[in-house]
Amino acid sequence: TKDRNGIGQVVLRNPRGASARISLHGGQVLSWRTDRGEELLFTSTKAIFKPPHAVRGGIPICFPQFGNRGSLEQHGFARNKIWVIDDNPPPLHPSDSLGKTYVDLLLKSSEEDLKTWPHSFEFRLRVSLAADGYLTMISRIRNINCKPFSFSIAYHTYFSISDISEVRIEGLETLDYLDNLCQKERFTEQGDALTFESEVDRVYLNSKDVIAIFDHERKRTFTIRKEGLPDVVVWNPWEKKSKSMVDFGDEEFKQMLCVDGAAIEKPITLKPGEEWTGRLELSVVPSS
Ligand code: BG6
Repeated sequence: TKDRNGIGQVVLRNPRGASARISLHGGQVLSWRTDRGEELLFTSTKAIFKPPHAVRGGIPICFPQFGNRGSLEQHGFARNKIWVIDDNPPPLHPSDSLGKTYVDLLLKSSEEDLKTWPHSFEFRLRVSLAADGYLTMISRIRNINCKPFSFSIAYHTYFSISDISEVRIEGLETLDYLDNLCQKERFTEQGDALTFESEVDRVYLNSKDVIAIFDHERKRTFTIRKEGLPDVVVWNPWEKKSKSMVDFGDEEFKQMLCVDGAAIEKPITLKPGEEWTGRLELSVVPSS
């Protein structure tokens, strides 16, 4: 299918009726729904869908740079580009395909990208939906140049939540984090689970591979399982920052929380011909 701007989209549907919608714009997942049709990802009512603007919501991929940690545009260029469907991807492990509906996408550096980031790469993304509704994103990034390069990556996941004051994150306790609101200074998390009462913009370092977001009011729990992605970004713009973003409603910060599996503090280096793989698996279960 195509969106209003003529950009291709792919809809995945599992036998029970759960679904995911992926846009070729950014290789971005824009929707992930349960078999009961509940939307699990947040997208702003003010989102701008016209490239090269990145869409405010879903799961934009930040690559090859996270935030402003480098000379490229904020969060790198991958989320602004039009990806293509990869009809003949190199094989993955059979368990990555069995019982799943999936799509394979591909991004390669254009002449224009090479001017700002002179490293030829192939970025293969598989988005799959399992029979139980789990959403998996597998990224394979290959250096097809003759010299090494380094990159950062984040799956900037906008979870849809009932109310920011009612959610907590478990799995980040006692970790060190870099605070973007404090010149990226390093702090150590003290409390128990993470709760929210003001703007948060942090990169938690070296987390374990499972993180959970509990939404008391909506009685559901998201689980994030990640591989190859040591860091976790936690972001909520809160009131003041929300008002400064043109593509975000003033009150929408209450209904979203970004929790990203990422590799930021220690960029990943690939030698010529080398490939890196990172995985993110999202699931949701009802909770009491
Ligand atoms: C977060 C960054 O991950 O993304 C924030 O840490 C930033 O600083 C936010 O504001 C949104 O970025 P953007 O470019 O999508 O507005």
